[in-house]
Amino acid sequence: MKKLIIANWKLNFKKNDVTNYLKVFLNLIEKNKIDHNYGFAVPFLFLETVKAAFKEKENVLIASQNCFYKESGAYTGEISYSQLLDININSSLIGHSERREYFNETDDIINLKIIEMLKNKMVPILCVGESKIQRDKKNHFDIVKNQISAALNNVSENYVGKLIIAYEPIWAIGTGISATAADAEEMCGYIRKYLNKLYSETISKNIIILYGGSVNDENKNVYLNQPNINGALVGGASLVPEKFIKLLME
Ligand code: PGA
Repeated sequence: MKKLIIANWKLNFKKNDVTNYLKVFLNLIEKNKIDHNYGFAVPFLFLETVKAAFKEKENVLIASQNCFYKESGAYTGEISYSQLLDININSSLIGHSERREYFNETDDIINLKIIEMLKNKMVPILCVGESKIQRDKKNHFDIVKNQISAALNNVSENYVGKLIIAYEPIWAIGTGISATAADAEEMCGYIRKYLNKLYSETISKNIIILYGGSVNDENKNVYLNQPNINGALVGGASLVPEKFIKLLME
């Protein structure tokens, strides 16, 4: 079954690096059999370049890594959902743990961003996940449940649309310590059940749930083979096109 693999470039690359990456990557996808759907979450600066590079390809999801919920106004330094739409970008990561941790993004702010994106038929990729301490205390299910319930506050079933959820345990991000397949599957299954409770069986069955946290071309299949995991959000291993391409092949 086709999965969805999204590269998260985070704060990496200069203009030239992007040009080189795209050249190598586009060449590799011509030469190799790609088995999965894929996408890129890239810095704002490079959105148009990356979007243009994939204009001939269907189904490649190009997303920003954040977006502001006000359309316009006196919000120095922000980029709004409507500015993204204006350059044909209809997706963004929302609530990545690095934004929650370093930029004080709260559940309330995340909720406003999700609402505004969904209202505008965009695809938010909502990131959730617990810290090491929370997992050690066995609070991880409650933490993730609360993050989802807060992010989806006032979002009715008709509006959930194409929302994607990425489960990324914080202790597994960029650490090389990935979650076991069993732990990742257990949480993604739990999220699915919770969405069933919150909305309906149709929503819970159809929603794309990704796992993220030290996924690479060697361990990817242990996650992708799990029934409740529909793909991966990949940081470090997405920064080298020769490595990232391997994640897109079975
Ligand atoms: P990682 O990052 O693959 O480097 O652990 C994942 C993420 O933060 O999305």
